[in-house]
Amino acid sequence: MLTEVERAKAGARGNSIDYDRISTLHYLGNYVRRLPSNMARMMENAYDWEHLPFVHPSSFSSIDLVDSGAWGWRARIGVPGGLEPTFQMLDLLVDAEKNYWVSTVFNGPGEGIEIHTQAKTLSEEEIEVDVRFYLPEAPGDAASAAAILGYMQTQYATLYDEDIDLMQGRQSALEDRSRWRDHSDDTSEALVGALSDLDRAKPHTVETATGRYCVRYWQNRWIAHSAVCPHQLGPLQGSEIDPNGLITCPWHGYSFSVVTGENQDGACGALAKAPDLVERDGKLFLIEV
Ligand code: FES
Ligand SMILES: [Fe+2]
Repeated sequence: MLTEVERAKAGARGNSIDYDRISTLHYLGNYVRRLPSNMARMMENAYDWEHLPFVHPSSFSSIDLVDSGAWGWRARIGVPGGLEPTFQMLDLLVDAEKNYWVSTVFNGPGEGIEIHTQAKTLSEEEIEVDVRFYLPEAPGDAASAAAILGYMQTQYATLYDEDIDLMQGRQSALEDRSRWRDHSDDTSEALVGALSDLDRAKPHTVETATGRYCVRYWQNRWIAHSAVCPHQLGPLQGSEIDPNGLITCPWHGYSFSVVTGENQDGACGALAKAPDLVERDGKLFLIEV
């Protein structure tokens, strides 16, 4: 629930970038980074408010969406690390044609900070982002300006380190999915391993012609579930099964029952059905019929 002040300030925000505003702000400095990603994945990442507390836990402890659309998104985010819960209201406005976006803190600590990002394509597999930091007013002296800039550059270096894995993981997941779709009518069998060799303490990832699956020993039996999150294809093979039989996706935190495959919050579909697990001659197979 938003406070009165948060609601009023959110309601007063516009949904398009006001490029003239920059002239009224103090330009602090920038952070430039080359990234091994294409532009589609970068823009998708800018719109993806939901990944923030999961992929960037040192920068965001929670997020509550206020509104989103083709224009971007507006949300209340939790700032990690304080003794008291601390929140900021933030929006990210996108100019999709220019590959440009602006995030503005409009309530809470750092109110008035605007961060303008211009992304440009260098090649099919590489882009560059120029992240420019603006403050409502110049800091009191050069030393504090340098300290604030250094802090922001370090934070953005961490954010982009974390985003590289997400963007690359998503790109290869999309490629995997189109390969699997070409084989969706195939029957196939894939060896999981010899039962005497299979370590019961860890998950075993097996790829068949139609998907990637995770085989685990759980509650005294072998089970198989899809290793691909039905939300946006996040990797599920690294997720531990919790005491309620749930696994949680690292990208946006959706959780799924390993027994039924159902998503717990009804926010997306269920896990793809895994092939049958069949034991034959002391070996375990995944068999698709
Ligand atoms: S990809 Fe979004 S929760 Fe899994
Ligand atoms: Fe991100």
